[in-house]
Amino acid sequence: MNITIKVPATSANLGPGFDTLGLALDMWNETTVTPADDFSVQVNGEGAGRLSSGRNNLIVRTAHRLADRVGKMLPPFHANCVNQIPLSSGMGSSAAAILTGLLTANVLIGSSLPGEELLNFAAEIEGHADNVAPALLGGLVVSTLEKKKVIARQIPIGVDIHITIALPDFYLSTKQARAALPRKITMKDTIRNISRAVLVTEAFRTGDLILLGETMTDTLHQPYRLKLIPGAQSAMDGARLAGAAAVALSGAGPSVIAFSSKAEAGIGEAMKRTFGGAGFKVRIFQLGVSSRGADIHIQ
Ligand code: HSE
Repeated sequence: MNITIKVPATSANLGPGFDTLGLALDMWNETTVTPADDFSVQVNGEGAGRLSSGRNNLIVRTAHRLADRVGKMLPPFHANCVNQIPLSSGMGSSAAAILTGLLTANVLIGSSLPGEELLNFAAEIEGHADNVAPALLGGLVVSTLEKKKVIARQIPIGVDIHITIALPDFYLSTKQARAALPRKITMKDTIRNISRAVLVTEAFRTGDLILLGETMTDTLHQPYRLKLIPGAQSAMDGARLAGAAAVALSGAGPSVIAFSSKAEAGIGEAMKRTFGGAGFKVRIFQLGVSSRGADIHIQ
């Protein structure tokens, strides 16, 4: 039996929707799993030579967690990964690995947990649902996590949106980026973010990029994180000046995401130049939204 699992990259938060909004991107990690004598992982593409090739790999660890949770033995497997999602980028590489592990285990132990339970478990492992929910469901997803249960809905997007992501060669873990956030926030900032997060979803739904630009601003996490990522504020400003309709930190950073109605090479060039000014090498990704989420194929 061969199991092939594809999981898309995701961009979480989308400005004001901290831990709430996420968007699936047309960039994929594809893993082929075959039964084997022991657990092993071959990583090709992003993460090759960096990710563990054995039991410590996040895919294997996550698969074991699901088997333990349902009280079954996990048969050993070899996973061959072809990864497009850069590690520690703010583009959902850990969410992709977690879902790959859960979907693998779900087939191998024959437990056939429904998607809802897999999503709950994925969010419990990741600690927030805004990457795993769009990675599983596809498209733009609003989610909330309450006592280990995820409530998530896909919001249809009313227009083709072009995405440019700039990724500097700067390491920032999600843990560090979360540790930088204040423990308390004011009522004024809370209200500002709630209202804008709702308007951001409406802007996507109706394809109103002017509204997106007006409302994709944030006071809960970006101001604190931008101080940790040299050049990120300039990259956001540069992308806007070059014609992007809206910009945000992608997830917890360090990448910056820009939205436009069509591919504009100047947006990527501006972000490359501004991040480059802070001394980084920068990779630019031109992407679309993926309306499809994780896909599993069994042969
Ligand atoms: N919502 C999470 C955060 C996303 O901003 O910390 C991490 O990718």
